[in-house]
Amino acid sequence: MKVYLDNAATTAMDDRVIEAMLPFMKNHYGNPSSVHSHGREVRTAIERSRKKVAELLNASPSEIFFTSGGTEADNTALVCGIETHGIKHAITSPIEHHAVLHTLEVCAQKGNIQLHLLDVNEKGEIDLGQLEELLKTYPNALVSLMQANNEIGNLNDLNQIGQLAQAHGAFFHSDTVQTMGHYVHDLKSLPIDALVAGGHKFHGPKGSGFLYVRKDKKIHPFIHGGAQERNMRGGTENVIGIIGIAKALEIAYEDMSGHEAHIKALKKHFIESIKASVPGVEFNGMSGDIDQSLYTVLNVSLPPSEANAGMLLFNLDLAGISGSGGSACSSGATVGSHVLRALNHNPERDSVRFSFSRFNTIEEIDYTVEKLKELYAVEV
Ligand SMILES: Cc1ncc(COP(=O)(O)O)c(C=O)c1O
Repeated sequence: MKVYLDNAATTAMDDRVIEAMLPFMKNHYGNPSSVHSHGREVRTAIERSRKKVAELLNASPSEIFFTSGGTEADNTALVCGIETHGIKHAITSPIEHHAVLHTLEVCAQKGNIQLHLLDVNEKGEIDLGQLEELLKTYPNALVSLMQANNEIGNLNDLNQIGQLAQAHGAFFHSDTVQTMGHYVHDLKSLPIDALVAGGHKFHGPKGSGFLYVRKDKKIHPFIHGGAQERNMRGGTENVIGIIGIAKALEIAYEDMSGHEAHIKALKKHFIESIKASVPGVEFNGMSGDIDQSLYTVLNVSLPPSEANAGMLLFNLDLAGISGSGGSACSSGATVGSHVLRALNHNPERDSVRFSFSRFNTIEEIDYTVEKLKELYAVEV
């Protein structure tokens, strides 16, 4: 049996997304910047996709910019947000994705900003009181806090953070790569200045993404070149990616609560069966709490085991199960997870992030837990 439980890394494309993209690979190949009919028909399709994304998020089409993915969208929002608005201080957390952390570190190394990292407790939670203190000390800062952590599934309340940011004149960006297509975003009511998406996290194509920037917080472009994306991103558009991400988001919104219910049931079943099968199992961050974590992610911390030490992912792979790393270790061949390290996770325990999609089944969960039970049976 082959089981794919690495959906936070990327997801399988939905057939309906592929069908929507196909005509733009075969027939509609004009350059959207060309003014002839071949170009115009593609331009129309891009603008239709932008309108669709904007409608779903309750934003204006002029606030949506298509990018090559979440990483580029994060880089654009952070680097250009800082530059355009003359920002001198940035506040973030040590468990952000590297698309945010490394970008802000480079801004700090260049001397453009001073970087402030919030503390996290052993569950990966931040303290909004500390955020408020920093915002009071450094008004008009940039705040970048992800909506859901890709490794441990911790959720941040964007509404609360946004209100704090707004009260202190801050530019608020959130990495929403793991929540886009999984939760509703109503950008008219959410006090946020920039958020991002990567299409391949919700059954769209890889290399597709978008950036939302609130109308009254406009930023400079990150990629200079032609006038594409209303001068915000030079370069001929990834037309099939744009068609694909918009279609994937449309499908996600069609039955979001149905998908959520299905995936939550899988996660709940995983938690209950592994607790019954592997003594000493724990869950990293908030991921073991069904109602307080991203429903697609479960980060399992397994008891120290000689047979599996450093080999767990490999052993699962041999059984046909694809999960993802890793341990908290910072030496040796694996770099380890900066998120688990920030949580002071015991490096003797191996951890696996299992992440689910609407395409997974209960049988796949049962098979995975059974294999984990076998792998850990030797120790009991
Ligand atoms: C939280 C988060 N941010 C950013 C990214 C990067 O997105 P992309 O692969 O679309 O560049 C990822 C992907 O793993 C992610 O999980």
